[in-house]
Amino acid sequence: MPAPLTLSCPAKINLTLRILTRRADGYHDLDSLFCPITLADTLHLDASRAALGPGPLAVAFTCSDPDLPVDDSNLAVRAARLFAEHQPLSGTLTMHLEKAIPHGAGLGGGSSDAAAVLQGLNKLFNTRLAEPALVVMAAVLGSDVPFFLRDQATHCTGRGEILGATVSLPPLPLLLIKPPFPVDTPWAYQAFAAARASSQPPAETQILPWGTLHNDLEPPVHAKFLVLPELKSWLLTQPEVAGALMSGSGSTTFAILHSAQAAPTLRDRVRARFGRNWWTWIGATVGTPEG
Ligand code: C5P
Repeated sequence: MPAPLTLSCPAKINLTLRILTRRADGYHDLDSLFCPITLADTLHLDASRAALGPGPLAVAFTCSDPDLPVDDSNLAVRAARLFAEHQPLSGTLTMHLEKAIPHGAGLGGGSSDAAAVLQGLNKLFNTRLAEPALVVMAAVLGSDVPFFLRDQATHCTGRGEILGATVSLPPLPLLLIKPPFPVDTPWAYQAFAAARASSQPPAETQILPWGTLHNDLEPPVHAKFLVLPELKSWLLTQPEVAGALMSGSGSTTFAILHSAQAAPTLRDRVRARFGRNWWTWIGATVGTPEG
């Protein structure tokens, strides 16, 4: 009988996100450097009342965030059901999710939770599925779910689901700032396509000592949510900030800082200027020892 398992589900930021072409299936081909960060949800998996073998499987799912659905529409539950299609499971699987990553934020929270479910079940039932098999399942759940099977900065292509080379980076001190509204990802991609057709100015690139920052979704999202370019411009004038960029389709902007010590005072200034109801978080990218 497998013992309960607790997994950390890290958030991500996109250090670069370049959109190449719009595809016939409605998705966009990307080239993006995804980077895990130290912000994480926590997933508790208890399979003590489940077993390998033909179903039915009941999924008893609870979540600390009352705004999130706990039925089969939750990506974590869909991940469990998809895993059970490949490796039949019976009985009751109990899952509890402690959310720390905001949603509609461009931080990949739901995708990370789903990837952790796949990895956790693979471990709990000792099914020994290798990364390529898990990637195939993960890609069915969402474009950026496969990335979360890795624990390192990775170049992702295709619609985001093709894992390329990993990248060694030092841990970068971060301040994350999210206004009290989400951005809808499909809308952001549509707005990008419309902006490209009307030849709006392209996204700018910031060059830092370890690499670049660039996000093609930033201009179309900034054109609608005017407080976001105001936030970014203000951040770039602050002495603590080495670079600032919207993550994914937003609405989070991350600031990369010269030093972690500076983060609390900068956060205080952000909240005083933009609002105490804005979500902020201090942490770092997950670096590599040789990075
Ligand atoms: O794959 P996922 O469900 O995360 O994608 C959400 C939506 O974002 C898609 O339905 C699509 O509208 C848009 N998208 C896109 N190109 C990508 C990834 C996402 O157009 N590479």
